[in-house]
Order: sequence, then structure tokens, then C-alpha cells
Amino acid sequence: MKKKEIYFILSLVNFNFGNIESSIMAQIKFTEIAESNNNSFVILVNKHLKIEGEKARELDRKLNGAISNIINKNSFKGEIGEFITTYVNLDNNWNYIIIVGIGEDSEIDALGANKVGGAIYKAIEKVKAEKVSIAIDATINMKLSEAECAANIALGLLLKSYKFDKYFTKKTDKFDLKDVEIIVHKSKEAQDIFTEILPIYEATKFIRDLISEPSNRLYPKNYAEICDEKLSKLGIKVTILQPKDMEKLGMEALLGVGKGSRNEPRLVVMEYNGAGRDEPPVAFVGKGVTFDSGGISLKPALGMDAMKYDMSGSGAVVGTLYVLASRKAKVNAVGVIGLVENMPDGNAQKPGDVVKSLSGQTIEVLNTDAEGRLVLADAIWYCQEKFNPKIVVDLATLTGAIVVALADVYAGLFSNDDKLSEQLVSAGKKVGEPLWRFPLGKEYDKMIDSKVADVQNISNAKGGSSITAAQFIGRFVKEGCAWAHLDIAGMAWTEKDKPLAPVGATAFGIRLLNQLVSDFYEK
Ligand code: BES
Ligand code: ZN
Ligand code: ZN
Repeated sequence: MKKKEIYFILSLVNFNFGNIESSIMAQIKFTEIAESNNNSFVILVNKHLKIEGEKARELDRKLNGAISNIINKNSFKGEIGEFITTYVNLDNNWNYIIIVGIGEDSEIDALGANKVGGAIYKAIEKVKAEKVSIAIDATINMKLSEAECAANIALGLLLKSYKFDKYFTKKTDKFDLKDVEIIVHKSKEAQDIFTEILPIYEATKFIRDLISEPSNRLYPKNYAEICDEKLSKLGIKVTILQPKDMEKLGMEALLGVGKGSRNEPRLVVMEYNGAGRDEPPVAFVGKGVTFDSGGISLKPALGMDAMKYDMSGSGAVVGTLYVLASRKAKVNAVGVIGLVENMPDGNAQKPGDVVKSLSGQTIEVLNTDAEGRLVLADAIWYCQEKFNPKIVVDLATLTGAIVVALADVYAGLFSNDDKLSEQLVSAGKKVGEPLWRFPLGKEYDKMIDSKVADVQNISNAKGGSSITAAQFIGRFVKEGCAWAHLDIAGMAWTEKDKPLAPVGATAFGIRLLNQLVSDFYEK
């Protein structure tokens, strides 16, 4: 074969396997007067059935109150998520009118505005309106300025519009939103705020793409390379530890999990220095199990496919670093993610094996499916030794039991520090990623004492397995280090529509950690 042909084949391979992005984002424009000839109008109505925005009311007058009539004659209550669509004839053109409820507008904050954006997207998706104008000018009586409100509505709309459709080879009836024109006073200000918060969408999309990617396409090696490619550009220092590096250091706990897989593990270390001085960083550590078959303690077949999302904790860490660097946050932050595939083969780790962790503590591996905590044990220890961080927050899809306890309403929070816990709960509430704190303590800690090693990776007791999992991680947290563990197993993937996410990967944790930094750790 000639050289040229080889190149051609290589580039095809690269195209098929290397491209991790799904569909393109809608164009959003902020303007003071309607400029486009979009023939779909979104009209916002509060729960007192008041039409929001001067432009929208003007349109209603032009139509001799037709819109008011529709609103008042229906059972429409103006609650968020409600919508009615209709056609009107305006200047001899048929126009689509999409009336969307926004609830009690005086209660709308940034998250509320995001949710209005999500509700708008649901309505326009339903009627497949590809080019829409939304009137948000003045009048909306929110906790936000009009410009902030417009920008946050746009962000929510984008977050909700996410799709993972790259593997459809035939045309589907899927809907692609193309142009959104937001009519708002001070459009320049709205545009500036939007530019500031846009990294949140970019990071969320980036991470939802990674989480959605099946495990034959995303495995530790290329995941680590993607982190490097995406984050280095933003000024983040990315270091990738290879298996031999980890062997030398003594990370048997992490390496043990990867032993049964053809896909070798990686540890990715990401350093962002935005504080402008030498000070200890805040640290985020993530479980990045690109597929969790359970290993020799094999999982049942039913639902095993879901275990491609077992790297969501690491995704939250990568996404957070992306946002912090993009918006030039004044903070030093590090991210450490352990990337491993948990598979059963002739070389795989077996129940009863004993491994020596980086911390020096020995671990009896009683269940190879309790692998996340093994990965985190070494990643967290490495992170503390290397960076001596102010705080450590780890995120992991760690236990099925957390889903039994909290469903998809809260993520579990476990911590040795009340202040850090309060900060996390507060940040979570603000962004709609709520946390519920669980207890830790000696009684639980005893349950993971092993008969043959320093610690065992599961408890023999019946209940409390999310707590004993956290307790296990706690054994690898140094005295005096403020630490929190977030069990996000019930939040990282959704089977039902959420206000800011469609069915699928949510990328839970990015907005939460960004808010945590912004409210409590930025200068
Ligand atoms: N990745 C799973 C936890 C999980 C379950 C995440 C369901 C998302 C949805 C984890 O590695 C695991 O298998 N945990 C075991 C622990 C058990 C062996 C103590 C579990 O929860 O069953
Ligand atoms: Zn597992
Ligand atoms: Zn797992």
C-alpha cells in the first residue's frame, strides 16, 4: 500500500474513533429589537397570567388581544413547564406562538431562570420550532436584572437541549434548534454575562458526551488523552501517570482493579493555578471506572450496560477544572482522576486478594465489584501527598445503596468537616444539585476491619453500605484534612427528564463544585 493510502485509512480511523463530540449548539443572539424573521415567538406568562415583556404585549395588542384570550380561556395556569402553542396571522404571515409558563416570577433567581430556559426548550422541541424569538425585555419581576435573567434563560435552554446522537447513521425525526433570538434591553450586558457563564454549558456538554460514550470507545488511555487535549489549551497542567509510574509509586489498590482488563489504567492529574500566588489548592478527586463489570464478583447481565457511566465522578472533576480555567477563577485547584476498567479475566483480581495501597495500608479485597473505593484510596492519598490541599472533595458513582436511600433527588454527602459540608449543601441548593448528609463514625468504621489486613473493601454487616464505603475512603484521608465524599450514583444518569437535562448523562457535580469555589474559595 502506498503511503498516501495508509494516511487516508488512518485519518478515517481517527475520524470514527477519535471524534467524541455530539451535535452542535444552537446559535444564541441577544438583541434589543427583533431583527430576524423568525416566525416562532415564545411568550412568557407568569402564574398570575401576566404576559411578560414589552415586545410580547405589543404583539398581543397587534393581534387584538388574541394571546390574552387564549391564556385566559384555557386551563393554563402559568406554572413552570406548562405551555400552549397556536398559530396567528400577523402582517399576512403565519406565526407560531408558543406560550410558556414561568410560575411565580418574583421567586426566580439564576437557577429559576435556567429552569425557565429548560421549559422553553421543551416547548419548542415539542413543536419543532427551529428558529425562535423570545421576548424577555423588561417587566419580569425577578431577583435578577433583566440581562442576568436573559443570559441564565439562555444557559438553561442550552443545557436542556443536549443530545447524544452521534451513532445514528440514518436520518431520524430528531429536532435541532438552530437560531434563538432573545429580545432584551441592554443586549450587550446580557451577551457579556452569557459569555461568562457559557463555559458551564461547554463543560457540561463535553462531560455528558464522555459519560454517554460506550466503553469500547472511551477507555482510560484515550480518556486521559482527551483531558490533556481539552485542558492544556486552557492553561491547565495535565500529567498522565502510566501503569509503570503507578507501580513504582506503589498504587496496588488502583492497579489491582485494572488487572483483569486489556485496557490499562491511567491516573490524570490536572493543576490550575488561578490564585496568582503560591497557596495550597482545593482538590477534587474522581472515580473514573470507564466500565464496571464487577470483575470476578461479576454483576448480573441486566442493566450492566449502565456501568459505562461509572466514570461520572471523574467527569465532574474534569468539567469543573474546565469551567474554573475558562472563567479564570481566582483559585488554585487540582483534579486527580483514577481511570480504570473493571473486568474479569485470567489475570483479574480475585475475592480474598490482599493489595498494598499507596498509603501503606493493606486492603483485603472481599468483593471485586467494590472497586471504586480502591481506585479512590490511591488517588486521594496521592493527591494529599503531592498537593497538601486545603480541602478534598471526592465524587463517585460508588454504591447502588445510595440510590435505594435517596433515589434521584439528592446525592449522598459524607464528610469529616461541618463547615465544608455546609458549604457544599449551600452550593448544591443554589444550582439545583442538592446533597443530603449521612453520618460517619466509629461504629461504621469497625465494620470494615479485616481479619487478615488493615482494612477490607466491603462490610460484612447487612446495612449501611453507602456509609461503610465512605468510611473506607475516610481511612485514606490524612488527619486534619477537611474531606467530603459525594456518592452520585443516583444523580449522574437520569431515566427521566430533569429541568436542566434530558434523559441520559447529567454531568452532575460541575455546577455544584464551580459554585462551591465561587462562593467560598475564590479571592
Ligand atoms: N459502580 C457501582 C455502583 C453503582 C451501582 C453505580 C448502580 C451506579 C448505579 C459500584 O462499583 C458497585 O458495584 N458497588 C457495589 C458495592 C457492593 C459490592 C458493596 C454495590 O453498590 O452493589
Ligand atoms: Zn463495582
Ligand atoms: Zn463501580
